[in-house]
Amino acid sequence: MDSTKYSQADFASIEGKDIMERAAIFAEFLNDTRERRHLQYRRVSLSGSAPVMQVQDPYTGQIRDMIYFGSNDYLNLTRHPRVIKAGHEALDKYGAGAGSVPLLGGTLDIHVRLEEDLARFKACEAAMIYTSGFGSNAGTLISLLQKDDCAILDMLDHASIVDGCINTNIRYFSHNNMESLERVLKRSRDKYRTKLVVVDGVYSMDGDIAKLDQIVELAHHYGAYVMVDEAHATGVIGDNGRGTPEHFHIEGKVDIVAGTLSKALGAVGGFIAASKPLIDLIRFYSRSYIFSTAMTPQAAGSLIEALKVIEEEPELRQKLWDNIRYFRKGLTSIGFDLGNAETAIFPIIIGDDLKVKEICRRCHEENLYVNPVVYPAVSKKLSRIRISLTAGHTREHMDRALDILESLGKEYSII
Ligand SMILES: Cc1ncc(COP(=O)(O)O)c(C=O)c1O
Repeated sequence: MDSTKYSQADFASIEGKDIMERAAIFAEFLNDTRERRHLQYRRVSLSGSAPVMQVQDPYTGQIRDMIYFGSNDYLNLTRHPRVIKAGHEALDKYGAGAGSVPLLGGTLDIHVRLEEDLARFKACEAAMIYTSGFGSNAGTLISLLQKDDCAILDMLDHASIVDGCINTNIRYFSHNNMESLERVLKRSRDKYRTKLVVVDGVYSMDGDIAKLDQIVELAHHYGAYVMVDEAHATGVIGDNGRGTPEHFHIEGKVDIVAGTLSKALGAVGGFIAASKPLIDLIRFYSRSYIFSTAMTPQAAGSLIEALKVIEEEPELRQKLWDNIRYFRKGLTSIGFDLGNAETAIFPIIIGDDLKVKEICRRCHEENLYVNPVVYPAVSKKLSRIRISLTAGHTREHMDRALDILESLGKEYSII
């Protein structure tokens, strides 16, 4: 099979083929992709997340030090000494696991403490934690929205949000477009019981910021509630890193604040913050919370400390923003199209799957770790290279990336 003639979406379902037949056909596609060295997913790291990471080359087996622009560890808290120490202490005190689901004996005092700290950090009455951000978004939405309700989603919302809406009606509005949102809100006003507008605070593939102040105003005007997913905003935007509501000075006005604990907070898990009655409702109806073992003590311990570090060491966020400004200037002066990116996520939009894969392959050969994002993650005309910056990247790392990208950009005629 010539894999360059297909995309992954072609194998999502194959007419008349059962799962084993479909798997065999997909294996042909993957094998050819691998032979062309276009497969840049699941690279194995031997060192963990850091600005420079040891990676095993999947084709040669060689161990290489790569400048790593694929991480969401925006403040490098995965390796922060205080965060590591707190994780060790929790591991020593409570052991490796929580032992049970949160409602039936799995709740530890450090889980409660983390939930209280998150509620305060997000200016909400209460918060609850999950073991993944995907599980918190999907599990919360599934528990809240039913067939008489409606989820009003931005077209670029994260998959965990879309999957959470399987039991309800979905209406989409054009990405970050307030006229489009207003039209949907007007049409939905008298048609559904609950209307919930759900947006990402910072969009994971585009790096732009939702117009949350306008979204909240419009939604409330038309009798809808708002949920924001702060996965890529927490720790990054807002004067104190509290995220999108802080960025727009509307803390306390968003009905549901969701997010992950796996990106700037450096560990793993997800959270929902809202009014106390709503959190209590979700705790008793969200199946991915009820039927899943509670977060590991080590993660909870690390996360409590990570929140403190975000509050007590603003210089980390300032360093991240110095890097964002420097790198943006470099990429735009070279002539790359960055769409509306404003944060630590830089999409280099190319609009040609094959070129994206080829350029990523060449970057990897130069020890530059960047991620290809192609159809169906984004539409074909918007396929891109996704770069994410962290506070720990140095000028040297960024200059090296700019040099390689400039030369490849010219070679592949994208600048
Ligand atoms: C916007 C957004 N929401 C939710 C998630 C899921 O979070 P987690 O990785 O913690 O499951 C991600 C990505 O991982 C994301 O980018």
